[in-house]
Amino acid sequence: MEGNRALYVFALCSTVILSIVDLVNANVTAMIMDQVFEPIRAGAALDDLMWRRLIQLVVFLVVFTLFRTGYNYLAIISYERCSQGLTYRLRRDLYANMQRQDMAFYSKNRTGSLMTCLTGDMDMVRHTTAYVLRMLINCVVLFLSTTICFLVKDWLFALSLLVITPLIAFFTTRFSKQVGPLYVDLRERLSQMNTAAQENISGNRVVKAFAREPYECEKFDEKNRDFKKANLKASLLWLKYMPYIDGFSQSLSVAVLLVGGLFLIMGRISIGTFTLFNSLSWTLTNPMRMLGMLINDLQRFFASANKIIELYYAAPDIQDSEKAKPQSGRVKGGLRFEDVSLTLHGSPVLRSINLEIQPGETVAIMGSTGSGKTSLVNLIPRFSDVTQGRLLLDGRDVRQYYLHDLRSAIGIATQDVFLFSDTVDGNIAYGDSQMSEEDVAKYAKIACVDFASKLPQGFDTIIGERGTGLSGGQKQRIALARALAVRPSVLILDDTTSAVDMETEKYIQDELDRLDFDCTKIIVAQRISTTKRADKIVILNQGEVVQVGTHQELSKQEGYYREVFLLQNGQEDQLRAELGREVSENG
Ligand SMILES: Nc1ncnc2c1ncn2[C@@H]1O[C@H](COP(=O)(O)OP(=O)(O)OP(=O)(O)O)[C@@H](O)[C@H]1O
Ligand SMILES: [Mg+2]
Repeated sequence: MEGNRALYVFALCSTVILSIVDLVNANVTAMIMDQVFEPIRAGAALDDLMWRRLIQLVVFLVVFTLFRTGYNYLAIISYERCSQGLTYRLRRDLYANMQRQDMAFYSKNRTGSLMTCLTGDMDMVRHTTAYVLRMLINCVVLFLSTTICFLVKDWLFALSLLVITPLIAFFTTRFSKQVGPLYVDLRERLSQMNTAAQENISGNRVVKAFAREPYECEKFDEKNRDFKKANLKASLLWLKYMPYIDGFSQSLSVAVLLVGGLFLIMGRISIGTFTLFNSLSWTLTNPMRMLGMLINDLQRFFASANKIIELYYAAPDIQDSEKAKPQSGRVKGGLRFEDVSLTLHGSPVLRSINLEIQPGETVAIMGSTGSGKTSLVNLIPRFSDVTQGRLLLDGRDVRQYYLHDLRSAIGIATQDVFLFSDTVDGNIAYGDSQMSEEDVAKYAKIACVDFASKLPQGFDTIIGERGTGLSGGQKQRIALARALAVRPSVLILDDTTSAVDMETEKYIQDELDRLDFDCTKIIVAQRISTTKRADKIVILNQGEVVQVGTHQELSKQEGYYREVFLLQNGQEDQLRAELGREVSENG
């Protein structure tokens, strides 16, 4: 880090030095003109002294040019090293900060936009540190040193050239003000196009199922066209200003010729001074022309840098609290919801939940879809934080654990299963890459991942996004094995066996009862066969706990559980009769 910073300062200083010595060649040429050619033209003899002078100056020119080229090469290498190093570290830090973010962050930022930040925006940073800054320094130093050199040689000649420069400066500033917002817009369009492509790629099954390829092409085409339009708009703006900036710069050479010619005839300046002005007029015009393009690039850089800074400093709402204390020893897994309420995006999702779960208990959570089951279990690993009340794990508020400690104590199989494009083994051992093969096999057996041995490469078969396709139930079983493999104190299964057949489910349940580590199990399920063995069944309805009890108790009580129980037992007739009685009683 420090070494690179020193190297970058070296590179920047080198650019200043190299820009100043750019004037040396023209000055030496002027000396040759004035000290050798002009006296000879005026009739002087070419004597030894002059020969020596000429040879000295020419040799100096050659040696100096070689040195300059070598030095420039070193400077550019330094720029490349520093800019690549900087973007590498920046990308690494951004990625690390993305890992810290909570779920709200990922629902707010689209994948395409985050990807653009890690790729296109990063390249803009590299381009700016390696090229734009170098050229900007070069332009400014060259312009200033030429101005000073001209003023020293002949102030009147110099001033008659410099009157044009404010005009050029006026146009460049106007251009820069107009092009800035265009690049902010352009960057947004690029990220929208990336998002469209990314969504289409991950959702390709749905697209195919609904035969919506033409619609998707059209949707992408629209984004693509918007991007092209935004690009064109920014480019055309530069084209609008270029004739003025270019025209004024070109007029400088004409001014040199006219004013310089006049002064030469009048005898005010020597032929050497005239040559110097003529050969250096590019060092005045070039910076001005370049400045437009550099400002262009700088505006693009600012648009990208804003997004990078935003991501770099993004702080998650859910993070380690100052009151957090390290956890010593294994968490027992007792849970207590004290008057817990949760509001997400302004809508109440959970209301006054009071629930006590003893360490080692198995608790089933049931309720109609959208009743808040996933939201309730998401509070335990702090995927979201309670809006009101407290959630205690082993008597301590979950917000007073370090997130790492808390989540390490929890094994969770989420409702929407995500597997990495890795081997079956790798997916199961995701929580602990040091896990032995025997352990992987053990948890695979509990979760009934027996099908893996029939895959082409067995447990070494790559699955997930880029590998062998698996059935819904197979994916669920791998997710279950992954959650078990961390030997959690609290195991959360959110609808994890919903796609598994009854027989396999029974096997898994038997295995779960015989785990060789202590573990509180929280099981979200819809099947009575899953819930009836639980120590406690919790029924949720519209974010509230409406019933708590064992299977024996709840199947006799009127309510959601009994209805589901009768339905699943094929006792619809009894249910219908009961419902009919209710209707006639009520009405
Ligand atoms: N991030 C969110 N922002 C706003 N509302 C949300 C969010 N997540 C969930 N909800 C709402 O909270 C309610 C409960 O959702 P939840 O996912 O907990 O239901 P669930 O009981 O798990 O349903 P299912 O059985 O279908 O999985 C729903 O009405 C849902 O629309
Ligand atoms: Mg759910």
